[in-house]
Amino acid sequence: MSVLVTGGAGFIGSHTAVELLEAGREIVILDNFSNSKPEAIEAIKKITGKDFKFYEIDYTNKKELEKIFEENKIDSVMNFAGYKAVGESVAKPIEYYTNNVSGALVLLDTMRKYGVKKFIFSSSATVYGDPEVVPITENCKIGGTTNPYGTSKLFIEQILQDLYKSDNTWDIAILRYFNPVGAHSTGLIGEEPQGIPNNLMPYISRVAAGILKELSVFGNDYNTPDGTGIRDYIHVVDLAKGHIKALEKLEKESKGLYIYNLGTGTGYSVLDMVKAFEKATGQNVPYKITERRPGDIATCYADPTKAKNELNWTAELGIEEMCRDSWNFIQAKSKGEM
Ligand code: WQD
Repeated sequence: MSVLVTGGAGFIGSHTAVELLEAGREIVILDNFSNSKPEAIEAIKKITGKDFKFYEIDYTNKKELEKIFEENKIDSVMNFAGYKAVGESVAKPIEYYTNNVSGALVLLDTMRKYGVKKFIFSSSATVYGDPEVVPITENCKIGGTTNPYGTSKLFIEQILQDLYKSDNTWDIAILRYFNPVGAHSTGLIGEEPQGIPNNLMPYISRVAAGILKELSVFGNDYNTPDGTGIRDYIHVVDLAKGHIKALEKLEKESKGLYIYNLGTGTGYSVLDMVKAFEKATGQNVPYKITERRPGDIATCYADPTKAKNELNWTAELGIEEMCRDSWNFIQAKSKGEM
């Protein structure tokens, strides 16, 4: 029996594929390389020394998707095939809702047709909007998303709730990621945003590598100790391991829909991240303070207790490993390209 990993060549999908293979699972990956590269598939094989079937298809194409279910014994699905750039989603709402929401519907409909009812969904802390309290528990209010990316996550969560209500033989885990960063310690897979990165860590590592001149720190007048925004950064390998734990939970429990925050429970400010990166890598990260970025919130970090109690999962890697591995990846990448 295999786990179908949609978007398995992407940042979180590729790291989860590695953890699945290392846990002795059989997997099938699909990806259309819209925001990833074929090299990631080779890298997963290289890291694990294991083989798997790969399909280059678009998961919104039902006919092609059905072929995968016809040709393989799939018994669970992890969905990483979503678009994820906040700014781009504002400019391209139709593309975002089509890929993320219609894609999830096509996938769920196909799963139902083939009697596959274990589903792990990549959601985001963005569904909490501007949180009323921190740390954020899974019971906190959701809604108030400010862009189509976040709203697409919210819609899919609602669809999954409705689906489970209509048929409680599904096993569903909704995983709300905080801020995934870092890369695999081999430097073979990591985050490769197209163009100039929007997220903090890829931006910092490109400044340190001399690819970008300086970091713009978006506002230092927030109500936080140093005035800059606070987030819960989580190493992508820890995040990937959370998926394996969630799958184990779905396999051993009777049917249910479960929601978990995947974060470390610790918040770091933008300036904390700059300092930690400099310390972990010995590189300089020049920065300037600029205006706030529209839509940003001051503070967001998880209460990860529920995942600890119910999944026996806790993030193990700290800020130092997050910085070291991000740096390691960008260096390996620039060497490869020269
Ligand atoms: C972190 C902090 C910025 C860049 C977004 C999505 C979320 C999730 C992760 C996606 C903030 C500051 C950033 C820069 C800066 N999903 N910053 N200069 O905004 O928490 O979350 O990414 O895939 O859904 O909303 O992450 O990394 O963009 O920002 O000062 O050049 O760094 O203001 O305080 P964010 P981020």
